[in-house]
Amino acid sequence: MNSDKIRIAVFVSGGGTNLQALIDAQKGGILHSGEITLVVSSNPGAYAINRAAAAGIEAVTVCRKELGDQFEIQLLRVLDKHRIEMIVLAGFMSILSADFISHYENRIINIHPSLIPSFCGKGMYGLHVHEAALAYGVKVSGATAHYVTEVTDGGRIILQKAVRVRQDDTPESLQKRIMKQAEWDILPRAAQQVAKKLQKEKTDGHRPATI
Ligand code: GRF
Repeated sequence: MNSDKIRIAVFVSGGGTNLQALIDAQKGGILHSGEITLVVSSNPGAYAINRAAAAGIEAVTVCRKELGDQFEIQLLRVLDKHRIEMIVLAGFMSILSADFISHYENRIINIHPSLIPSFCGKGMYGLHVHEAALAYGVKVSGATAHYVTEVTDGGRIILQKAVRVRQDDTPESLQKRIMKQAEWDILPRAAQQVAKKLQKEKTDGHRPATI
């Protein structure tokens, strides 16, 4: 690995299609200022772990259910061991505490499947987001890549992409289209933007700030 590159951990819990988009972006040169050096799964059965293995990336499982109040301590230990400099939450189904986030201030990003500030915050994850969007009757939804702060889905926005809602959409069809058309596109590009900024700060010897 190129030692100038920002060492990235991708946090996952499920299928890992966003992880796959990041891996593909790395192979294709879109993500070039950072390198995915670790995948952390909160779920031992996540298919994302297979995707990491296929790409030759080390994966570890850190399970909140098993670890209880040691969960974040263990996460920090693993990140430290791998000298991780940036974290991408890609379908990670666990809320991180303000204390954990303070260790990686302006170094954690997330993908959310709506146009923030719509349909976000507590309880707005997975299909709930798309159910709420359809129930409201919005004609446009989309995805947002943003920094992670202690306010759920409240960190500074990095990139957004809109997706048209169809009259016959179900939560499932809307979810799929938003993933395909928006999430898999903007998450790798946002990761590149942040990695580039961190890389520059590392070279210049500055503390990270948001873009
Ligand atoms: C995506 O819809 C993402 O926006 C949400 O969880 C889903 C993750 O899918 N947070 P995958 O594991 O990346 O396939």
